[in-house]
Amino acid sequence: MGKKVLVIGAGGREHALVWKLAQSPLIEKIYAAPGNPGIGELAELVNVGADDVEGLLSFAKREAIDLTVVGPEIPLLAGVVDSFAKAGLSIFGPTAAAAQIEASKAFAKKLMRQCNIPTAEFKVFSQIEPAREYARTFTEKGRPVVIKADGLAAGKGVVIAVNTKEAEDVLESMLLRDAFGDAGRTVVVEECLQGEEVSFFVVCNGNDYLPIMSAQDHKRAFDGDQGPNTGGMGAYVNPPVFTDELQQKVEKEIIAPVIKAMKREGIPFCGVLYAGLMITDAGPKVLEFNARFGDPETQVLMPMLESDLFPVLEAAAKGESFAGVKMEIKKGACLGVVLAAGGYPGAFAKGMVISGLESLDRDTLIFHAGTKINEGNLVTSGGRVLAVVCCGSDFKAAALKVYQQIGRVNFENMHYRRDVGERVWKKSAAAGKRRADYGF
Ligand code: AMP
Ligand code: GLY
Repeated sequence: MGKKVLVIGAGGREHALVWKLAQSPLIEKIYAAPGNPGIGELAELVNVGADDVEGLLSFAKREAIDLTVVGPEIPLLAGVVDSFAKAGLSIFGPTAAAAQIEASKAFAKKLMRQCNIPTAEFKVFSQIEPAREYARTFTEKGRPVVIKADGLAAGKGVVIAVNTKEAEDVLESMLLRDAFGDAGRTVVVEECLQGEEVSFFVVCNGNDYLPIMSAQDHKRAFDGDQGPNTGGMGAYVNPPVFTDELQQKVEKEIIAPVIKAMKREGIPFCGVLYAGLMITDAGPKVLEFNARFGDPETQVLMPMLESDLFPVLEAAAKGESFAGVKMEIKKGACLGVVLAAGGYPGAFAKGMVISGLESLDRDTLIFHAGTKINEGNLVTSGGRVLAVVCCGSDFKAAALKVYQQIGRVNFENMHYRRDVGERVWKKSAAAGKRRADYGF
């Protein structure tokens, strides 16, 4: 009998996971709660919110779901994994306690210090005076300082302050004026690292890990890394900066020690561990850990995965060894660009009709995020609307194809970055290749 799988979430990441799982010969049926119209073409949508732990649990029990896969962090922190495990149901993701590695920056930093993991110099504060004083030790030397709300703040809780005045304003707003509520009552103040950012993903079973791939996200809203931070505007896999040698170093100095420490602390980590790294001149350093797949990184990771994803997630969820499962990666490149509503990440309109998807080439992948069906039309319903993803024999082929395909899609005030991947050709340019060699 084939397996029944439930995927929790409604974004592009979950669409990509469902798309990949739908190719597994081991799976008979996929449900998604609550899903989106793109997911609905591959799975049965269940009208239960991603944070409705009770609703998810009763659905999974009723349908005898064999494996539940959690996409976003909110249900993890709401204890969905704890509740499912207690009910004897198999679920892929960390417990609420283990998800603290993402939800509390102070927890993550202390864990890193304890295991000697390379990360920015830091201190944790809940009182304003000592926080100001520590921040000044950077700014008075003319160095920027990074101030982070301890808890989840929808990507807005990290500020790079370039002078003392800015640092003090941020500290006051977090510690004295509760700008981030509980999330900002404790802050991490840290050294500002310089370098290229890389996201590295591994699957963990509590004892051990299996590397997936690395990727680079584009967090700022506008070209040239300008404008406000967003959830992510585009990504590609296997950035050249993350060499095999660097990956080995990261596995040895960062991933393996964290997994060991969490087990030792009695909070073994099962699920995807996503290390946000800065590749500095002094080597890779951790910016943050996330306890889940990245979005939009998953939209470019899944198309590159040759082997079946289901056995990997199942082994991890059951705490079984990875010895019998494979993680085979395709050759070539994969790049995705997010099409967002004009105004995102600030205020944006909804309900714009999306056109042109039917004219895309068959091998172009579209992952839905903020879409819905309204009177028979596919319309926008969120800030990040769709991701257009293409694979190619090399980076140039993938990038060219994505931008050519985007030319066929439209909705009112559609906004996207036109420089996803530019870092790669800029580096190559420095190494003697011209931009024109990459064709864009
Ligand atoms: P985080 O949520 O901790 O990953 O921070 C969000 C973003 O802020 C990161 O992706 C980086 O671009 C930036 N950032 C965070 N910490 C630092 C740091 N110590 N130095 C420089 N940039 C940072
Ligand atoms: N792409 C950034 C994230 O998923 O947190």
